[in-house]
Amino acid sequence: MTPALKLERRIIIISTAFVIVLFGLAAMAINLFHVGLPTCLTDIKPFQKGEFIAHSPTHYEVHYVAKMWDFEPAEVVVPAGSTVDVYVSTPDVTHGLILLGTNLNLMVVPGVVNYARVKFDKPHNYQLLCHEYCGTGHERMAANLRVVDAVTFAAQKTPPTPGPPAQNDAMVKLLEAKDCMTCHSIDGSDGIGPTLKGIYGRKTKLTNGSTITVDEAYLREAIVNPSATVVTGFDDVMPKPELTDEEVNALIDYLKNLK
Ligand code: CUA
Repeated sequence: MTPALKLERRIIIISTAFVIVLFGLAAMAINLFHVGLPTCLTDIKPFQKGEFIAHSPTHYEVHYVAKMWDFEPAEVVVPAGSTVDVYVSTPDVTHGLILLGTNLNLMVVPGVVNYARVKFDKPHNYQLLCHEYCGTGHERMAANLRVVDAVTFAAQKTPPTPGPPAQNDAMVKLLEAKDCMTCHSIDGSDGIGPTLKGIYGRKTKLTNGSTITVDEAYLREAIVNPSATVVTGFDDVMPKPELTDEEVNALIDYLKNLK
């Protein structure tokens, strides 16, 4: 064999060994460190509602909704040793989702759903952050993912927070559409009218001299026929809103739970 052939053979052997080592490392990363491919786009339709689904005691699914400026659900609890499928969607602008201390790092792009699978071996409190600048509230856009031991997980009676029901968003939209929010806040501050936050069960003095506790009947009257019951300290300026019966019922349900 000529020296040139010898050299060629050596090069072939070394490069083949290199490729084998490379595949070996990739296999090790997948099996030992659970490194997946987090860039997978799915063909799932974007969703509006944060969700936590338990498939089995060791397999969970989380639907994160990233929106200006929080994640829904804000807290997820899973037992150690479980595999979690994470799907993320956004109704507004581009966000990012990173789970510090893990390989979970996804872009959150309007119109598509991104997916990644994570396996959690040990109990730990993980922080979920938005890593794409998305406006003035970007830096406070965070959530928690707690991995707890099986005993703690079994002990927690309350199911993981599924986030505020989607109905709330619809109701806020309705309140905005009917111009209610011009005078009534839902954050506890009084405006031209009293705040709607915590209205249900509130002891309220009316301009007719009576004091009532806000109940369903009062809410209905106050929505449908505002002039009949005016709260002391406010003017009788509320117009009759144009609402269907279903909308009135839904609003009452919403206000009952607006604590
Ligand atoms: Cu969302 Cu930054």
